[in-house]
Parts: sequence; C-alpha cells; structure tokens
Amino acid sequence: MSYANSRIPASAQQGVHERLAARVRTHLEHPFRKPVADCNRAAHARALAGWDGRAPLILDAGCGVGHSTIELARTFPDHWVIGVDQSEERLQRRKPYPAALLPDNMVFVRADLVDFWRLLAENGPRLARHYILYPNPWPKIGHLGRRWPAHPVFPFICRLGGTLECRSNWAVYVAEFALALELALGRAVPWETFAAEQALTPFERKYRDSGQTLYRLCADLGAAR
Ligand SMILES: C[S@@+](CC[C@H](N)C(=O)[O-])C[C@H]1O[C@@H](n2cnc3c(N)ncnc32)[C@H](O)[C@@H]1O
Repeated sequence: MSYANSRIPASAQQGVHERLAARVRTHLEHPFRKPVADCNRAAHARALAGWDGRAPLILDAGCGVGHSTIELARTFPDHWVIGVDQSEERLQRRKPYPAALLPDNMVFVRADLVDFWRLLAENGPRLARHYILYPNPWPKIGHLGRRWPAHPVFPFICRLGGTLECRSNWAVYVAEFALALELALGRAVPWETFAAEQALTPFERKYRDSGQTLYRLCADLGAAR
C-alpha cells in the first residue's frame, strides 16, 4: 500500500456499539483486579525517575515511534513528558533528530498501558495533559472490549486528571470515547473534526495525506480524581 493511500477502518459497526454503555457502567462499578506485572512496575519507576517531582506531567499513551512525545516535550519545555508504548521496536526506531538534539524533559518507556495507567492512578501524581493518539481502533463488532473506552482500565484513565485528548480517523472510536467519558464524569463531552496542519504523529500525517477526516475530543478531567 502506498503512503498516502491508507484506509478508514472498515467496520460493520456504523455507530456507538449497543453494548458500550452497559460495559462502561460495569467497569465503573466493579474493581479491576488483574495483577500488575513486575516489568510494568519497573517501567513506571523508570518513567518517573528523571522527574523532579514538580514539573507538570504529560503522558503520551501508545506513543508508537515517539515523534509526538518529542514534539510535546519541545512544546512544553517546563513539563516532564512520558511516552509509553508496548513495542520496543517502535520506541527504538530512528527519531527525526539526532540524539544530542532530543529534549531532556522526556522519557520513553516500554510498558503495557493496562498496568501503567493503573500504577499511575494508584501511586503516581496527576497528569497535566494526557494524549491517546490514534489508538488501535479494533473495528470489528466483536472486538469492542479491546477498545480503550470499553476496557476495564477505562475508569483509571478518567482518574488521572488533566486535559485528556483522544484522536482517531474512525469517528465511531471518538464517539464511543466521548460516551464513556460522559458516563464516568456525568457531563457531556463534545468531539469534533479537525485539520491537522502540523501532524503530531506519523499516523496522523498518513491519514491526513490520504485525505481522511480526523476526529478528536478534549476533556478536562482536572476535578475527576
Ligand atoms: C496505531 S498506533 C499509533 C501510534 C502513535 N500514537 C501514532 O499516532 O503514530 C497504536 C500504538 O499503540 C500501542 N499500543 C497498543 N496497545 C498498547 C498497550 N496495551 N500498551 C502500550 N502500548 C500499546 C501500539 O504498540 C502502537 O504503537
């Protein structure tokens, strides 16, 4: 497939999944008790090891090759920016700057977000900003539970506070994220289309250059802990 020819997720699901609201309510009411892996505890410690304990925190959740993490660290030089991805190969991929020019207010850690989010919610400080950029859409109807809004970890995402931004090229994903947040927060969360003049991530650039519509939501979770 050529670069600017990527496709919008194809799905038999055209709107918010009929079981989403029930799933979110269940997850909000019942604790998620899956044990946390030691490697993710170590990653959580590594993510905060270079933090001075005062700088506002930014989490780039599912950062892929980390271009957005670098860009966020440059945009917010007084913040500590954590890029998390489960793929070491992506984290290690060549960056758009030589190592010597990379900002020093950021760190990349390999971790499973299902554990990392819970560790942050339970032990870590609140976030100032939280980015979930182009998460895997899992567009099959039967894969609802793999999408973050329908995952048992979702209540922990809400507890992290700060400004949460989710972007996708699949409108249904952002609509589901907005509904899940609405159920968690008790208020409507608007979402919109936007033009990515400066693409923040490689996926964003690819979708934009393929002429796709991009969707995003921003929610202030400041009081949500
Ligand atoms: C579609 S890519 C988007 C990457 C990047 N945000 C971008 O826009 O270019 C989704 C990323 O989420 C990561 N990911 C998916 N599930 C994850 C999990 N449970 N823990 C950590 N990373 C995860 C994948 O490894 C992948 O790099």
